[in-house]
This record gives sequence, C-alpha cells and structure tokens, in this order.
Amino acid sequence: MIISLCDSPQDVADLAAQRVADLLHDTPRAVLGLPTGRTPIRMYEELATRASDGEVDFSQATSFNLDEFVGIGVSHPGSYRAYMKGHLFDRVGITEARGHVLDGLAADPDAECARFEEAIEAAGGIDLMILGLGANGHIGFNEPDATLQARTHRVTLLEPSRKANAEFFDGDPSRVPAEAMTMGMGTILKARRILLLVTGSSKAATVAALITGPVTTQLPASFLQLHADVELICDTEAAAQIR
Ligand code: GLP
Repeated sequence: MIISLCDSPQDVADLAAQRVADLLHDTPRAVLGLPTGRTPIRMYEELATRASDGEVDFSQATSFNLDEFVGIGVSHPGSYRAYMKGHLFDRVGITEARGHVLDGLAADPDAECARFEEAIEAAGGIDLMILGLGANGHIGFNEPDATLQARTHRVTLLEPSRKANAEFFDGDPSRVPAEAMTMGMGTILKARRILLLVTGSSKAATVAALITGPVTTQLPASFLQLHADVELICDTEAAAQIR
C-alpha cells in the first residue's frame, strides 16, 4: 500500500481530485467507483471547480456508487443518489444513465444488487475505486462481522453507522434506514486501482490497524492489504498512529 501523507483535509481532497483528473485525461471513458460521506465532499468540490474551469472532462466517464440505503429514493436528502447529484453529478454533467447508484426504492433489493453487479461487469469493471473509511473499519457498508459477503448485497446497518449518518435524518439515528445495499469487498477488490481517503484523528487507530494488523472480517478495510494497487491518501491526524 502506498501512503500519501498530506498536511490537511484540503490537501487530501486536492491530491485525490488530481488522481481523478489524471485518469480522465489519459482515459476519458474511465469507470469510477465513488463514495459518499463527509470525507470526499472537498474532493467533489474541487472536481466540480476544475470541471467548470474546463480542466477535467466527465463527459465520457461512467461511475458506480459504493452503496445506498434501502427504502429511500432521490427525493430524500439522506439518499446517496441525492448526495451524488448535489455534490458531483449535476455539477460535472454525469447523467443518470452514466452515474449508477443502487436504487433504494427497488421492489426487490436482492435483484437490484445482482443487476448492479452485472452493470459493473458490462461497463468493463471499475478502473479507479475511491473509498472512505468508517470509524469502525467499514468500507461502503461492509460492516465488521464474523463473515463478509463478496458481491453487492443487502445489509443490516450497525448502530455506529446509523449514528454516523444521522445528520441527514433530522439528527435522529432511529430515522436512518435500518438496511442498505453495498458493493461487497470482492466487488471492491476487483477494481484495477483503489484510493482510500481518510482524514481526522477519530480514524487514526482504524488506519493503523488496517495497514499493520491482521486481515480480518472484523475490520473490513484490512482486506485492502490483499490488493496490489492501493493508495491511502490521508492527513497527518489520520496517520498519527501508523508505526
Ligand atoms: C458512510 C458510508 C461509507 C463512508 C463512511 C465514512 O456510512 N456508507 O461509504 O465511506 O461511512 O463516512 P465519513 O467520510 O463521513 O466519515
């Protein structure tokens, strides 16, 4: 794993945006895997600015989002589809046909997961998968557990994850959907390249464990040790406990 250490969250965002811009410059039809959460917001802001300045072109790119809540759609501000439209898609011209997000309102979530997995394959697989990190070590919504599922699947969210997402649900964790759909760790590890973005001291212990600890389903992010092309872009606070 390559570790790119940055002075600040803004530097993390700038470097991540540069990685995306470089990829789209070399491969305009690239397939991106994209995260939600607080961490990537500055990167999306930076990409939107660069797109409006004509420095990066998303017109031929395709994207697949990591995860989505079950039971809510784009009209709910807490849905990841709404997040992506607001932070990136509408600002850089990624249409609904090219910006793939699992459909939280699908009548059959299991079938939706299978369809999504097939759509990734049909697009030729993911060239660059960008990830955030849950404080409990989750990636997407692959929660710490005795076992993990490899492919896109439906999950029951753990309490810390519902709390972490409460701000878009009137600050009330009980209003956060109990279930989500997420790419599996196998889906994620099939990407040709992976960028993991982490900022802040609250994730420092998890960062150290995912790099130097054992590969364990109790820390889904530790599976990134098995991939040959992972870059961790983090700030000094997040890196503080790496030995
Ligand atoms: C969320 C998302 C993840 C995200 C993570 C970290 O619940 N499902 O994909 O990476 O938690 O979020 P944040 O960046 O806000 O800490």
